[in-house]
Amino acid sequence: MHRLPNFAAARPHPTFVRTIARTLAGASLALATLLAVAPAHADSRNMLPRNPLPVYTQECAACHMAFAPGFLPAKSWQHMMGSLDKHFGTDASLDAATVQQIATWLAANAGTYKRVAEAPPEDRMTRAAWFERKHRKIDPQVWKHTSVKSAANCLACHTRADKGNYDDDSVAYPQGLPARFRTGWND
Ligand code: HEC
Ligand code: HEC
Repeated sequence: MHRLPNFAAARPHPTFVRTIARTLAGASLALATLLAVAPAHADSRNMLPRNPLPVYTQECAACHMAFAPGFLPAKSWQHMMGSLDKHFGTDASLDAATVQQIATWLAANAGTYKRVAEAPPEDRMTRAAWFERKHRKIDPQVWKHTSVKSAANCLACHTRADKGNYDDDSVAYPQGLPARFRTGWND
């Protein structure tokens, strides 16, 4: 399992928390306190927050999957939620109360580590430096191929992306993608 320390550094690392927890075994009150402040999972198996917001999944997974809030900084989410009528060439407008509810939840769960903290061009995680680095072995033509359609279509390769899982165990080679693009894939 690959952890994603890039996203986790602002919060204590789960392993670190577990280590402390072990050290404190017996001191149950302190342990309970520690576990209460344990971070939302920040490893590649669970990038989604522990407190899901049903309306987010309902409204923001209508045209694509619900992206994990931790992949963009608060600034990007704020800008996006303020311009839903001009959303990547489409109109994704919602009523003001719903916008407020989703915006608040996104802000609270946004990425905070420095690599995520800088708003990427167009507020696209697919244009963030960390995204390009993690996918540097993928031929640029792959993103446009009909079996993938777009880099934003995480599910084309990360079969459990909608569960927040980006672990390499759940990466699959897209069906229909010519074998010549296999070069560079780690599997
Ligand atoms: C009417 C359809 C529609 C709805 C509803 C919608 N989106 Fe999108 N969204 C799009 C399209 C189209 C793109 C561009 C996809 C691409 O480039 O492949 C996009 C792209 C995005 C991206 C950028 C992905 C990247 O390239 O990194 C984010 C983030 C995003 N949407 C978030 C949201 C959020 C948050 C909501 C809910 C408030 C939402 N979307 C609702 C159509 C929609
Ligand atoms: C064309 C296929 C493809 C698409 C589409 C794709 N990825 Fe990936 N992604 C990969 C491959 C291949 C890796 C490397 C896996 C490995 O380490 O073996 C990877 C790695 C990652 C990693 C690092 C995982 C780790 O354990 O270090 C993250 C995070 C990630 N992708 C997020 C995304 C997100 C978010 C999207 C959509 C916005 C996306 N990817 C779209 C193929 C893809």
